[in-house]
Order: sequence, then C-alpha cells, then structure tokens
Amino acid sequence: MFYSDDLIEEIRTQNDVVDVISPYVTLKKRSNSYVGLCPFHSEKSPSFVVSKDKQMYHCFGCGAGGNVITFIMEYENFSFVEAIKMLAARVNIELPEGEASKETKMQNDLKHNLLEIYKQAAKFYYYNLTSTQGEAALRYFDNRGITEETRKKFGLGYANVYSGGLYAYLKKQGYQDTILKESGLIAFDEKNGAYDKFWSRAMFPIFDVHGRVIAFGGRVLGDGMPKYLNSPETKLFDKSRNLYALNIARTSRKPYLLVCEGYMDVIALHQAGFNNAVASLGTAFTPQQASLLKRYTDLVYLTYDSDEAGRKATLRAIPILKEVDIAVKVLNLKPYKDPDDFIKAEGADAFEQRINEATTSIMFEIEVMESNTNMKDPESKTNFLNKVGERISILTTGIERDNYIEAVAAKYNVNKQNLLDLVNKIGARQGLVSEKHTQTSTERINKKDREDVVLRAQKILLTWLIDDINLFNKVKQIIQPQDFKDELYNKVAKMVYEQYELDGKVQPAKIINQFEEVEDQRKIAGIFSAEVKENITPSEYEKAVNETVKRIKKYSLDVMSRNIQELDELQILIKEQAKLQKLHISLIDG
Ligand code: CTP
Ligand code: MN
Repeated sequence: MFYSDDLIEEIRTQNDVVDVISPYVTLKKRSNSYVGLCPFHSEKSPSFVVSKDKQMYHCFGCGAGGNVITFIMEYENFSFVEAIKMLAARVNIELPEGEASKETKMQNDLKHNLLEIYKQAAKFYYYNLTSTQGEAALRYFDNRGITEETRKKFGLGYANVYSGGLYAYLKKQGYQDTILKESGLIAFDEKNGAYDKFWSRAMFPIFDVHGRVIAFGGRVLGDGMPKYLNSPETKLFDKSRNLYALNIARTSRKPYLLVCEGYMDVIALHQAGFNNAVASLGTAFTPQQASLLKRYTDLVYLTYDSDEAGRKATLRAIPILKEVDIAVKVLNLKPYKDPDDFIKAEGADAFEQRINEATTSIMFEIEVMESNTNMKDPESKTNFLNKVGERISILTTGIERDNYIEAVAAKYNVNKQNLLDLVNKIGARQGLVSEKHTQTSTERINKKDREDVVLRAQKILLTWLIDDINLFNKVKQIIQPQDFKDELYNKVAKMVYEQYELDGKVQPAKIINQFEEVEDQRKIAGIFSAEVKENITPSEYEKAVNETVKRIKKYSLDVMSRNIQELDELQILIKEQAKLQKLHISLIDG
C-alpha cells in the first residue's frame, strides 16, 4: 500500500458506500440494506445488496463484493491506488505525495514499477504510431480495416525500426537497468548493450481485467517471422491466467462470451459490435482461464480458426470449460479461416447468424468424427456410428441421450430405434467400466466435499463472529486464528480477533482494506454477507455453533497430528482432543 492504513481508512469511512454506489446503480431501500441490479453481470431481478451498516456490497448472483474501494476498482477498472485517489478527491482529502511506510513500499515497488513501465511503454508505442515513423504501421492497420476509434480503444501502437527508442525513453524517466531488464521489454547483452525487444512491429497492449497494461504482442507488418512476438511472463503477466480483452468483454453484460484465438479476431469482433469477445492468444486454453471466465459467464461460444489446428484446439478446450460448468457452443466459420476474415467478408449480421446456428459441443465432437469418415463406405459409416453411440452413451441423463439420438438419426439418416439399441448395448457393455468410473469420480468429489465442509465451517464461523461479540468471547477460548487453516480465512480471523480485542467491535469494510487484490476482497465480502443466521431458532443456532466449532477444531487437530514431532506436542494434542470431546458452548443463557 502506498498510503498509511489510517489514511486509507479515513478515505473509506468518509465515502459512504451507498452514496458512492447510487450514481452507478439504482438502489431501492429494503430493511437494513439497499438492493439493485448488479452492474457486474447481467440480470433481470436484483441480487446486488449494499449494506449501510457493514459499508459493503455483495451480489448473491455473481459473487461480486467488497467495500467502497473495491467497488470503484471493479466498476472503473482502477488499481487500488487509483481508486484511493478518486475517492480521496471525492471527499476533498488531500493525499500526501509519496507517504507510505518504507517496508510496505518496498514490497509493492516492483509490481508497481513494472505496471508503470508497461504503461509508459504503451504510451510510447501509441505516440510512435501517429508520428512520421509510424506511417507504415498506420497504413497496415488501415488496410486491415481497423478504425481510429478501435485503435484508440485497444491502445494499438508501433515499435519503430530503431531498436533503442523505448530504452532511451524509459531511461530518461529515471528507470534503472535492473528493473528494465525485469520488465522483459529491454534486452541486454555484452556485445550490443541494451536494446528494445520489439522493433518494427505493430503493437498490441495486453490488459488485465482492470485494464492495466501487463504485456505486449507485436506483429510484423509484412510476412516476416515470427508473425507475433510476445513479451515474456513477468511478475505482472501469467499467460495461462489471462484472456485478451476480458477487461472490456466482462462489462458487456451479454449472456455469453465469445472465445477466439487471436488479437485481430477480437479487435475485428469488437469493432463489429461483438464486445463480448476474448482471445486465448494462440496458447492452449487453460483450466485457469476457464475459472476466470466462469466468474463472468456460464456460456461460451468457441470461435477458433476453422483449420485443423483450430479444430483440435476446440476439442481440447471443450472439456476444460465443462469442468467448471460452462456450457459450450461451437461456431462454424467456414469457408473463412477466422472471425476476422469472416467479418471482413460477410459482415456482422452474417456473424450473428452463425452465432444463432452454433452447434452444441457434443454435436461438434460428432461432426469431427464424421469428417474422418467416408459416409459412402458401409464399414466406415458403421465405425462412425459406433463411436457416436459411445459418445452418446456416456451422457448423464436419459433426456440428453434421447435428444442426441434423435438429432444424429435425422442428420445422418439412421434408423432411430437402431441407434437407440446401439447406445443401450454400448451402455450395458460398458456398465462395469462406467460404474468403476463413477466410483473414482465420486471418491474424488467426496474428498473435495470434505474439504469444502471444513472451509464452509470456517466461513460461517467468521460470519457469526463478526456479528456477535458474546459468541466471540466464548469461542476464543477454543478457537484461535491459527485454527482457521485456509490462508485467506486465517488472515481474516487474525484481524477479527485483533479488532475485537482492541475496539470491542468489528468493521468488515476495514478488514477488506488490508487486501489489495479484488479477488480476495470479493471473497471476504462473501464471508461478511452470508446470511446464515436467518430463520433459525436460538437452540438451533446454539447447536449449529457447536457443530461448526467442533468441525473446525477437529480439522485443525487433525492437521496438527500429522505434523507432530515432539513428545510435548503429542501431549498437547491428546489434551486438546479430550477437551474437544466434552466441548459444549452454551449461548442461550448468556
Ligand atoms: N500467435 C503467436 N505467435 C505466432 C503466431 C500466433 O503468439 N507466431 C498467437 C497470436 O496471439 C495470434 C494467435 O496466436 O493472435 C492466432 O494466430 P493466427 O491465427 O496466426 O493469428 P491471427 O490473429 O489470424 O493473425 P493475423 O490475422 O494478424 O495474421
Ligand atoms: Mn487472422
């Protein structure tokens, strides 16, 4: 953090969360809180709740949440410091230049400096484009049909033919060689000294979800090799966790996102009005990208290139998306290579038409099988139908199986009853196999469930604790912050305990201040917004508290028992376990 905790806390408390959010979201008062339509996902009935007491917001639909600072970060795509600046200005608090504790400053310096360097580099490339040296690049973008507006929106730029321009520019701003080396934008070697990684390329800044530049892609203007050059992974940029243009697409409020391969595809799509398009940038789609998408949507249309590589990439991405419960549809771009080519040739309406005609992921898989089949050859066709039967037989519900049997029978001119018999036969034959298969996946789920139960217990207890000092005074005899084994919950627990001991009360929004990542803030807001106590009698509450406390303590002791090294640790463990057996927290009589 660049400002002291006290100052941040003052800025937060002076900016009432309801007042700040009101201009952005129409809020209606409902008992203690305000509700409205969530600005972070598209919805028809309100699940976005703002609490004046807790000075927090939370969306029960998409899980967005945090304090007033989080809101500004998320809505305006601001960094923490930028949000602080805006909120300080809003209430006329003057920010000291450079006030921060030395230690925290050190910690944040590297990331902050890298962000600053990338921002400066983006500016540099952007100005190059409109300077006289940039003419060729400007022409290149023109030829590819990119308008000035689109160029600005995506911050497109140009790296000059001269390969020391960026280095000189950054040096003039006082950056040391060590940090420039770390940025990956400048290379150093004994023979040539320092030189720019990118020269003579059209530059595409890559943004994170908050719209901060964290990397670049550079394209040759002609047919040179490599076609695209990317800046390396750094403290800021992890390829596998990022999607190009998600910073824009996530605010598009469309019910689905389009995922394509390249920069130019995304840019062409956005220019044609499909501002819900993102790209995985030529690398294989990763599980981390899938989880990232899941935050914003439950439905993805894959619009990868229509060549063999694109088809393979599609087949690989489908199960990764399904794993996080995202439904997948696949667009057919033929006869064009990619969305960019398609739009240029056929326009936006035709593309919209292709969206409407997109196939489900299973139908796509079947079509790929078909393309390897000679349908005129009876043996080849039988083979194909056997594979289709196998694919259909592993669908989980009978309705799904029926629907696909019907679709396949119609499309490939097969007798429906015969296909049904085939699917049933394969299902029966694979009975053993698939039973075994379900067993292992259930086992996996059970282990995960067990962990989830403990996690949930930790979360619920925190929720109860912040609302109830009486409960805190009793629980603290048994549960200490170190019993919260989840890293994030552990940090939160420490702060909750500390605030109780020091102030006798907990301010959730103050705790959120301590976390700079929106993702953490969102999770913490989730803890403080769970309404687990509603519709529950005092004795039910008491019972639930006891069960929850026991569950957490037991898990914590289990972890301890696995790590025991000394005899006295063992003695403590045995004593604690005995105590746990007899544990009863009584809440009803005070
Ligand atoms: N890519 C890359 N390095 C390469 C080729 C491709 O990093 N040598 C990545 C880029 O992110 C590119 C994506 O893979 O955007 C898709 O590649 P391709 O289909 O070749 O790119 P297009 O976007 O179609 O490029 P263009 O239209 O500019 O030729
Ligand atoms: Mn292309």
